[in-house]
Amino acid sequence: EKGTYPHYMLKEIDEQPLVTRKIIQKYQDENGSLTIDSNIISAVNDADRIYIVAAGTSYHAGLLGKQFIESWTKIPVEVHVASEFSYNMPILSANPLFIFITQSGETADSRAVLVQVKELGYKALTITNVQGSTLSREADYTLLLHAGPEIAVASTKAYTAQLSVLAILAAVAGQGKGLNLEFDLVKELGIVANAMEVLCDQKEEMEAIAREYLSTTRNCFFIGRTVDYYVGLEGALKLKEISYIQAEGFAGGELKHGTIALIENGTPIIALATQEHVNLSIRGNVKEVVARGANPCIITMKGLEEEDDRFVLPPVHEALSPLVSVIPLQLISYYAALHRGCDVDKPRNLAKSVTVE
Ligand code: M6R
Repeated sequence: EKGTYPHYMLKEIDEQPLVTRKIIQKYQDENGSLTIDSNIISAVNDADRIYIVAAGTSYHAGLLGKQFIESWTKIPVEVHVASEFSYNMPILSANPLFIFITQSGETADSRAVLVQVKELGYKALTITNVQGSTLSREADYTLLLHAGPEIAVASTKAYTAQLSVLAILAAVAGQGKGLNLEFDLVKELGIVANAMEVLCDQKEEMEAIAREYLSTTRNCFFIGRTVDYYVGLEGALKLKEISYIQAEGFAGGELKHGTIALIENGTPIIALATQEHVNLSIRGNVKEVVARGANPCIITMKGLEEEDDRFVLPPVHEALSPLVSVIPLQLISYYAALHRGCDVDKPRNLAKSVTVE
């Protein structure tokens, strides 16, 4: 039920701190340590390569899942769009593990790949929000998101839940191989949940940004480097899906290879700058577009802020920044859609779960 909320999407955005805390709790043992079924951890650590398969927002979560798994377990990971994988299967390693990420557990494109890889005799893990869903039943293993029902077509809380579960999976698998994280993930996820709460209390600021940059624009670009690029892809999908503004996410360094031709006077550019090691480069990319007339909205993290930044995120561990940097993007999309009179929860041409290939 929506309760006092005007839309499910806003309610689901607001639920993210709670969902994050719930996930920490669900994946903790009685001593407070993170834990995952040992069969799943063996399946991960026995694999010589992991193939993540997903669609839409879940695919974007997969891109970040690759970062967590590769950094924390040292197992190579490929991320594939489900609808392409079926018809263009990559050369598989000798001992692959497949991870399907799907909020609904019913996405036909992802299921088609699951059926194919099961026929080939490979093991599959499904990360889903829906217990008993098709992809959960048909995979060897399931990890649940514990996000509660997600009703709005635009996925919000499922995305951050996917990131939390992927981070926990990577951390526990790494630990199983004797690769311990240099930080306390439980503590850092707790800090993330608090930061999410702070952001959910800043709706007026998000509404102001949406009004300033997006109320009449035809298009909008999201730029970032490394993980900020992946979050930008998600920000762009959210914006186009519900506000019908043409929005694209780009790697900061890629813009000058063509897309910069689209920048006109006043074109909004939402730039994420949350990563210290690429801070200078992304800011250089912002200067390039500003020189062509773009209207930049720089979202940065406390500690990296500069004078012209539009919004400063509360500080969290750098590796976990996507869990918080996506929240302003979700809220900005929500308000942009609202200002433009769009049906936020049920955008045109879309269904909550895409059960046709
Ligand atoms: O249920 P799934 O996670 O498998 O759904 C995948 C996509 O259809 C879904 O994420 C879609 O992109 C969302 N509407 C995005 O907000």
